Amino acid sequence: MLLRWLGVGAWAAGSWALLGRDAEPDYASDIRPILDRSCMPCHTESGVGPFSFARQESVVRHSALIRVQALSGSMPPTPYTSDFGPISLAPPLSDEDRVLLQRWIRQGKPGTASPGEREPSPPAAMEGGLQMPTLPKLRLEGAPYGLEYTIPVPEGITDITGWDWRAESPRSVRRVLLSWSDEPIAPRETAFEFGSEKVIGMLAPGYAAYRLPEGTSLKPEGRYLRIQQWMHPSGRAESAQIALAPVAARAGDAAQLLSLNHPGFEIKPESNPVLTLRHTLDRAARLHSVLPEARFYASRVTVRLIEPGKPSRVAFHTLRWSPLWTGHFAFPKPISLPKGTEIVAEIQYNNDERCPMNEGKKPELILSGPGINQEACRLHMVLLP
Ligand code: HEC
Repeated sequence: MLLRWLGVGAWAAGSWALLGRDAEPDYASDIRPILDRSCMPCHTESGVGPFSFARQESVVRHSALIRVQALSGSMPPTPYTSDFGPISLAPPLSDEDRVLLQRWIRQGKPGTASPGEREPSPPAAMEGGLQMPTLPKLRLEGAPYGLEYTIPVPEGITDITGWDWRAESPRSVRRVLLSWSDEPIAPRETAFEFGSEKVIGMLAPGYAAYRLPEGTSLKPEGRYLRIQQWMHPSGRAESAQIALAPVAARAGDAAQLLSLNHPGFEIKPESNPVLTLRHTLDRAARLHSVLPEARFYASRVTVRLIEPGKPSRVAFHTLRWSPLWTGHFAFPKPISLPKGTEIVAEIQYNNDERCPMNEGKKPELILSGPGINQEACRLHMVLLP
């Protein structure tokens, strides 16, 4: 703990000089845009964060906590880098953002509320929502658990370019994985493995709506849409129900789903292995998004793209992996890749005292498998022609 705080202090002293001492940050022009970009995807009334930053008074009320979070770099929860610009996840704070926030809070002068500041309206009742089965209420307590079921792909839907979704209890239904299935499944508890080669996408709080670019679409690859939800008991009787609406499209260039899977592995106690997945494109394609799959023993995830004869580029990299914050990492523009490009995912696992799963106990042998105490090493992708 001490080291962590010393580190933070040294960092703050270094960057303090960056901005010059007189520049007084202004709430409306300096602070609001940072919050909107990096925090508001989650910190709204109906969002997954514990309080809303939609109004200035609420920002001021929580400013001491915000300062701690901003300096320690623990919010937003998945800091990432990408050589392709901001992806579909709240972007991490830059050094300049941190200095501005820190200064504004120190100033102790909150400034004036900007006109038009208000809570974003909750998503309206979903139009074109699919008929969902009635699900059992969320468990009151215990570890996160999974729930899965299928719904038939509605007649007449041949092309889909995206999904809108909404959870009745957004703080407890944290993520929803969509894949195609040939078999119907009545609602049942499930393991944590996506376990499918036909993963369409992950809907998660803090993410932009799931959309393919215009002119492209997904064709159903099964008679059923399989839905897997990660549920987080909160001590309250909450609803597991979600609303889901496909965005139908005219037939477009068909998107292709591609999944890489490490067939089986073990992680010895006190070891920190890096596992690698590789795929070489046998034709030119555009990469729309990547969805890594790993659980609580994983700590770092990197996806690289290596075009023939070119230096490797980082599509997605995080030093703080958590499956709680995984989603479909969609790029601002699909990345054009020539035939022969290698896609390489590296996942680092920590089976030592640094892993939160090992808190208060000795590390054990970890096997790959579907359990919450097991591990996965997969990469799901959406490729466009
Ligand atoms: C992807 C969603 C997400 C984003 C983006 C996000 N937060 Fe959070 N934040 C959470 C959640 C969820 C919690 C509750 C703690 C938890 O579950 O990890 C939280 C907790 C907090 C807390 C309370 C911590 C405590 O000690 O009680 C603060 C302060 C905070 N966030 C500030 C921020 C700031 C500032 C930003 C933007 C720079 C931000 N958050 C961006 C989801 C998010």
